[in-house]
Amino acid sequence: MPHEFRAPDWDTYKMEYKQPHREIEPPAAEIALVTQALEALVAQGILPCAEYDLARFAAFRQAVRDTFEIPWTAITPRLQRAIYAINAIVRPRAMVAAGVFCGNTFISNAGAAVGPGACYEAEDLVGLEIVAAEAARAEANVRRIDPTGRARILAADAVAFAATYDRPIELLYLDASAPGDQGKRIYLGILEAAYDKLAPGAIVLAHNSVNNAERLAAYLATVRDPRRFQNSLNLVLDGEGLEVSRR
Ligand SMILES: C[S@@+](CC[C@H](N)C(=O)[O-])C[C@H]1O[C@@H](n2cnc3c(N)ncnc32)[C@H](O)[C@@H]1O
Repeated sequence: MPHEFRAPDWDTYKMEYKQPHREIEPPAAEIALVTQALEALVAQGILPCAEYDLARFAAFRQAVRDTFEIPWTAITPRLQRAIYAINAIVRPRAMVAAGVFCGNTFISNAGAAVGPGACYEAEDLVGLEIVAAEAARAEANVRRIDPTGRARILAADAVAFAATYDRPIELLYLDASAPGDQGKRIYLGILEAAYDKLAPGAIVLAHNSVNNAERLAAYLATVRDPRRFQNSLNLVLDGEGLEVSRR
């Protein structure tokens, strides 16, 4: 049985993809649930602690709301908070996010290190998007929050990029969806291309661990294999899901 943390209302908690900023539940309920999920990650030895700065997260969320052009997103407020918090706790010096579309998922990770939600300084934060027009929009979105350029978007194939990246990756975020039947199966190709570059203890996040579990079966088997990863926990906070794995 895979490890999982499941919110009691995971299947009734729903967002409108075109209304990313609409509040779905009272902030105190969202904070309490995400803290429970972080504590479950601590209990599994995946995170060292469950604390992050609530005020900085609030400033980050407001900046995205004020500056980002988001045509749609499947990142629920719960997952936005959880992804930010994981980055704020892990503090990756190098973070790579694959398949970032308009950049909302990327900044959910990178917002812990740049802009008004920053709680540490990173060295390199890279978002990869294969569709050039989407990469350009993501880059413009990110520049409005991070004028420094430390967080950057590249129009590139995540598999090819991962194979040639020359830094130890401390956090890898997977959200690419290839055309046709391959879809989210591409996660495994990106993971295998990046695997040797994952620093010891690196965290790998995979969106859609619930609603794409079938297509992600080989990926999930890999991150749940103790010969490849120390541990892995499926966060079922919503109907999309986030698999959190520690190398
Ligand atoms: C469905 S979107 C992810 C949206 C995200 N879950 C959200 O809610 O904002 C997946 C993105 O992966 C991109 N993609 C597909 N194959 C890719 C690849 N090989 N490298 C980088 N990006 C890729 C697609 O162009 C698409 O923009």
